[in-house]
Amino acid sequence: MKFENLLIETVEGIAVVTVNRPQALNALNQQTLVELQGAFADLSNNEAVQVIILTGSGEKAFVAGADIAAMQPLSALDARQFAKLGHEVMGAIEKSPKPVIAAVNGFALGGGCELALACDIRLASEKARFGQPEVNLGVIPGFGGTQRLARLVGKGVALELLLTGDLIDAAEAYRIGLVNKVVPQAELLEAAKKMAARILSKGPCAVKLAKEAVRNGLEMDLDKANQYEADLFGLCFASSDQKEGMQAFLEKRTPRFQGN
Ligand code: HXC
Repeated sequence: MKFENLLIETVEGIAVVTVNRPQALNALNQQTLVELQGAFADLSNNEAVQVIILTGSGEKAFVAGADIAAMQPLSALDARQFAKLGHEVMGAIEKSPKPVIAAVNGFALGGGCELALACDIRLASEKARFGQPEVNLGVIPGFGGTQRLARLVGKGVALELLLTGDLIDAAEAYRIGLVNKVVPQAELLEAAKKMAARILSKGPCAVKLAKEAVRNGLEMDLDKANQYEADLFGLCFASSDQKEGMQAFLEKRTPRFQGN
């Protein structure tokens, strides 16, 4: 698939996907969403890719939201369709069997914050700014922000951000648990790649199942979720990774995982 608004580079199992519309602060229009959908379908099925990093081009923005110019004239039905497309994209990221790390290099607003929320781990540069400023435009988030933000940082903090539309800096995002780590701008991509490489060195089957356990388990009650965890734990024992990982520990050597 050829991309107009994305740059994709894969090196040693780590794919870096860069949203590349710097003239509009990487705002998500229909085309960019469709490209993200295609890119995540490809990368999720590509055996050469084990971890995905998502970032924005330029120094200023990760993604400054859905494209306001494109949304302004939409009919109600078209707006619903646009939101549904966004949900499909966020769902594809969340459900990707590969871990996805957001490297938030600047503004992550509205749909941009929602894009970061759909990722598994968020690293931010000191220049990152987060917010759900949709109320300033007379709308609400439509790519899952009302749901994922509340699930991640809790109802009260999420509602404060959603109702005021206030932007917060990286330190505050870290304080409320919206981001995992804050690093200097110049080190952001390297930090994301280092984390990706650490994940890459682990048992691939276990990494995949751990993501699945958290994602699906959080939507269940605790008894069902623990049962589900036990099932997935059992499933690990059908993999050569489990035999190798435990054997390597007993032999005091580094495991050589096959990912099966
Ligand atoms: C379209 C955008 C944009 C956006 C910025 N631009 N954000 N275009 N959609 N979301 C464009 C500007 O129009 C401008 O284009 C160029 O990018 C540079 O932006 P400036 O505003 O000049 O930069 P600056 O003064 O530094 O301000 C940065 C900013 C501001 C604070 C990030 O751009 C801003 O507030 N953007 C909108 C943020 C927002 O409200 N996001 C939520 C959108 S709603 P020109 O051509 O003038 O140079 C949303 C809903 C999601 O995301 C759900 C949908 C279903």
